Amino acid sequence: MNKTMELVRPDLPHLAGPMPGPKARAIIERDSRVVSSSYTRGYPLVAERGEGAIVQDVDGNRFLDFNAGIAVVATGHCHPRVVEAIQKQAARLIHMSGTDFYYEEMVTLAEKLAEIAPGAVERCVSFGNSGAEAVEGCIKLARYATGREKIIAFFGSFHGRTMGALSLTARKAVQRAGFGPLIPGVVHAPYPNCYRCPFGKEPESCATECVKFIEDTLLKTIAPANETAAIVVEPVQGEGGYIVPPRKFMDELARLAKQNGILLVFDEVQCGMGRTGKMWAADHFDAVPDIMAVAKGIASGMPLGATVARATLMTWPPGAHASTFGGNPVACAAALATIALLEEGLVENAARMGAHLRERMLDWPTRFPMVGDVRGLGLMIGIELVRDQGTKEKAPEIRDRVVNLAFERGLLVLGAGDNTIRLCPPLVITRDQCDFAIDTLEQCLQTVMAHG
Ligand SMILES: Cc1ncc(COP(=O)(O)O)c(C=O)c1O
Repeated sequence: MNKTMELVRPDLPHLAGPMPGPKARAIIERDSRVVSSSYTRGYPLVAERGEGAIVQDVDGNRFLDFNAGIAVVATGHCHPRVVEAIQKQAARLIHMSGTDFYYEEMVTLAEKLAEIAPGAVERCVSFGNSGAEAVEGCIKLARYATGREKIIAFFGSFHGRTMGALSLTARKAVQRAGFGPLIPGVVHAPYPNCYRCPFGKEPESCATECVKFIEDTLLKTIAPANETAAIVVEPVQGEGGYIVPPRKFMDELARLAKQNGILLVFDEVQCGMGRTGKMWAADHFDAVPDIMAVAKGIASGMPLGATVARATLMTWPPGAHASTFGGNPVACAAALATIALLEEGLVENAARMGAHLRERMLDWPTRFPMVGDVRGLGLMIGIELVRDQGTKEKAPEIRDRVVNLAFERGLLVLGAGDNTIRLCPPLVITRDQCDFAIDTLEQCLQTVMAHG
């Protein structure tokens, strides 16, 4: 495509000048003086507006967003139906506090979540404002409902940064360092990363060692079944590197939980809301979670989290758990519009576009020696970069270089795990936009191959 055509295509990137531009530079400078130094910014994008999968920065550069605000704007940036729902609701009622009063939007959303939640079981919902809060709700409910204290989580997992969620998180030392003591009773097990099997097995010869470890070691030593409330697992591990576990792992984990009266908790914060090409990542497996944490994509960018549980579990008394802002009417309205759009075709589009992306990447490991693994479900795709395909030595610096080169070419991607590029575009992404992203990433990989 020639330059002139590119300029008139609103669905593709257009870079107006060197980056960061003058306005971006000035804002980044101000940010550095007043915004917490704990934020991790990979490259100097200062966003001003967004539409669909396109984000424009303050200097007029247009980018193709393959991050979706970290898997949040499921329906794309500022989808007209979501904007309309927000505007209408904001003009009518912004806040009332569901902790103490009733309003219909919260009830309608709870009904909808109960209807679409995995498994044919009755559900109740508690609302918060974020993924971490949704996870806190899971921890508290699991402890309350079972009267047990211990929680089993997984290495590599990310569940959020509040103290309970952080205690489950086992992703990077810096996320926990200096914040202890965290909540007691949390133990971790290896996550089934078949590209780097923690037990040195091949998928064919593996007898779900990760579950066996829980059964034969944890339950028999530091987390006896009669003290263990829940196993909390990401059905697809997100921040840990977009890792898809084998089906038999989830089957076995569900069996183990059921046999021991331990609740199975799915953290669907990143992998839920249609991202994997089904409404829930759980829908790729037979296992039905007892409790589920949902956030990120649920309201296309409005802050909302939900703890969705079997109705028979959520019987705690008034006052046991709630949140002033959780499930506020505007966020609920945005969520209802989002779910309608997902059901009307976006989940299906995620499956189709995800298959197209992965198909185009099939031959990458043979074409690019630094591509160790390409994996994913729907629009949740990880590309793991290695120094050597044989030794699988991780190549975080190559990953970072590719991410930055992509930015310089107008494509927004981010890392996950130590050395993986994550692709999590909005679910409205088109085939042309997918092809642009793949062409761009191929150019970046070629540049790295040629020049390092
Ligand atoms: C799987 C998972 N759970 C929980 C969280 C925490 O969500 P939040 O940042 O909204 O608190 C995240 C955030 O990345 C996540 O990926």
